[in-house]
Amino acid sequence: MKSRRLFIISNRLPMTIQKEGNELTVIPSAGGLITAINNYLKNSKANANEFSETFWVGMPCCNPAAWTEAAKKLPRSKYTYLPVFTSSKTYDQYYNGFSNSTIWPLFHYFPSFTEYNTENYHCYVQANAAFAKALIKYARPGDVIWIHDYHLLPLAQMLRTALPELTIGFFLHIPFPSYEIFRLLPRKWQEELLYGMLGADLVGFHTIDYTAHFLQCVRMILGLEHDMHVIEHENRLIKVDVFPISIDFDHFNNGYDHEQVVQTRTLIQEKFSHKKIIFSVDRLDYTKGVSNRLRAYELFLQRNPQFKEKVVFILVIVPSREGISKYTERKKIFDEMIGKMNSTMGNIHWQPIIYQYNSVSFEEMVGLYTACDLALITPLRDGMNLVAKEFVASRKDKKGVLVLSEMAGAARELTSALTINPNDVDEVADKILEGLEMPEDEKMQRLEAMRNRLKQYDVQAWAVDFFNQLHQIKEKQRAFQVK
Ligand code: F6P
Repeated sequence: MKSRRLFIISNRLPMTIQKEGNELTVIPSAGGLITAINNYLKNSKANANEFSETFWVGMPCCNPAAWTEAAKKLPRSKYTYLPVFTSSKTYDQYYNGFSNSTIWPLFHYFPSFTEYNTENYHCYVQANAAFAKALIKYARPGDVIWIHDYHLLPLAQMLRTALPELTIGFFLHIPFPSYEIFRLLPRKWQEELLYGMLGADLVGFHTIDYTAHFLQCVRMILGLEHDMHVIEHENRLIKVDVFPISIDFDHFNNGYDHEQVVQTRTLIQEKFSHKKIIFSVDRLDYTKGVSNRLRAYELFLQRNPQFKEKVVFILVIVPSREGISKYTERKKIFDEMIGKMNSTMGNIHWQPIIYQYNSVSFEEMVGLYTACDLALITPLRDGMNLVAKEFVASRKDKKGVLVLSEMAGAARELTSALTINPNDVDEVADKILEGLEMPEDEKMQRLEAMRNRLKQYDVQAWAVDFFNQLHQIKEKQRAFQVK
């Protein structure tokens, strides 16, 4: 067992190399995927029991010379980095192009934002082939390969063809859309992407709905049936199942008492004393439903004038994908909406929205999660949404209310939240009021139920569950192939 090596494969490495003037700096990468895997690997107990060595394979977004230079400054870690390089043109068409202007909008049910560009698709396949080439050099039978996310849908099959013995798991961090949406892609792409994913032994999704959509696409497009989520293909068995990603519960729960968190919380609560605090934090993305959220807040204030000067909305937006026009356009829209609302509804004593366009540290984030009265999380579509889980885990005091979009994967687990349809601004406005007026014992009961769920199935449980199922299907496959 112990001699097996683990290869984590994701588009992004856990740190990003940036050039400032002539200086190369190494900064930690952000995002749900990176945080989840880092938290899993950080737990040396689980890792030491499983694997003899761990590698993290990804694109460092710089050229090989810059990587060699920057690698000297990398912090010590439990894993070895294996960088994969492509030309910057290929990278642009693979990342900004096919990954984030085709798959991302389509899989999040934004067909009108979806671009169908053959050259981008070729670059996407080429970038995947660069990953495969790098891996084939290092991997050997017996190794476990864990591929992550929509940037790498064709990779499992590429590896399978070269090294049939590998154990390969694939996990999708975004929604898998219904057949009616998926079939909007050109037929050739549909088939290649699905066959690509079926190169894995285990294909994992956040929710039962995404799993059902995938199985239906495989049946309708490839004509492959499943028996209890197991597909037989090319003399192999492939399992398809649900693994709702989670967070390091203890890290957020214990964060409540962290000195800097306490300081941040106290500062915020003093600054906005006698006011209710609503909080949200998202990457800048059209999927996050920020415009509707702002409209709902405006409506809430119009309908409930008693809350004027008695409430603030702290809105943090983290810059993201700045090379894509749909993202930069969004920034302009938000700036204008917020400016207009603050100037028309606020006054010299009161600003209804406090807006920050920048990232926040862990301590500031937990400070904000635990200072607020209500977390307002309203994505139009979201694979999971870990912010909702982080908020719940941070509320050791069992105070605060979670208003959560039913379009987020997290709503399947966090059933004691106040759920809303993000397109229904009337409903969101009503739930803001309900949340701000909720009795303390009800807040406590709801948080308690959600915290229990997150304690039981944290990020460790998620990864362990995935590996267990991967080993099980591999065992079944061996028995099946012997027959
Ligand atoms: O939701 C999918 C995801 O890959 C997350 O893991 C992460 O939060 C986000 O997208 C990051 O996107 P990017 O790597 O483009 O900044």
